[in-house]
Amino acid sequence: MASPIYRIRPMKSGDIAAVSALEQDVFHDPWPQTAFVQEVLFNSEAHYFILESCHIQRPASRWPWGKRARRRIYGFVGLRANLGQGHISTLAVHPAWRGHGLGELLLMTVLAEALERGLTNVSLEVRASNWIAQSLYRKYGFQTIERKSHYYRDGEDALLLIADITGARYREQLASQR
Ligand SMILES: CC(C)(COP(=O)(O)OP(=O)(O)OC[C@H]1O[C@@H](n2cnc3c(N)ncnc32)[C@H](O)[C@@H]1OP(=O)(O)O)[C@@H](O)C(=O)NCCC(=O)NCCS
Repeated sequence: MASPIYRIRPMKSGDIAAVSALEQDVFHDPWPQTAFVQEVLFNSEAHYFILESCHIQRPASRWPWGKRARRRIYGFVGLRANLGQGHISTLAVHPAWRGHGLGELLLMTVLAEALERGLTNVSLEVRASNWIAQSLYRKYGFQTIERKSHYYRDGEDALLLIADITGARYREQLASQR
């Protein structure tokens, strides 16, 4: 029988191929794999996390060395820190695993990371038509401050969203939701 265990951990170089494959499935204009290499290996201000499932296969025998772990990446998120401010560069959940709270968990992870690093606010760009992601971000206090015309390669506008994370109330709310 397989029992799924989920965990979120920092992205490592060994995750890049799988993350890049998921990126291709999720986004219209995916990042090339080299972008993840650059971010994860060479950008000290970039903090990327993956959400993976670990299915422990328990064989009929009771011998512990008979267990096998199968890992899959179900989502990822990235935060860049610059001059005391944060920017969420990406967030995605595998299409088959949406609607189970995993995107929210990933967002909370980078918001907590931003708080730990003493950042004052966090911004991001989102497609104007992406109301699902916008709904998630608004739940965490993000507000639109600008509409960027023709921001994406296919001509769609982006909304620039920002959340002030300095308030004690924000910290308490995040802690309670976690
Ligand atoms: C945006 C995304 C990460 C959300 O991940 P998810 O795991 O499905 O979301 P969750 O289950 O954690 O839901 C969290 C919140 O998102 C919003 N949301 C999620 N699915 C929704 C849906 N079908 N309709 C409306 N709102 C929805 C809700 O606000 C929800 O909170 P609620 O459960 O209290 O209503 C996911 O849809 C995704 O990967 N989309 C493609 C990539 C993308 O658009 N990334 C954002 C780039 S800026």
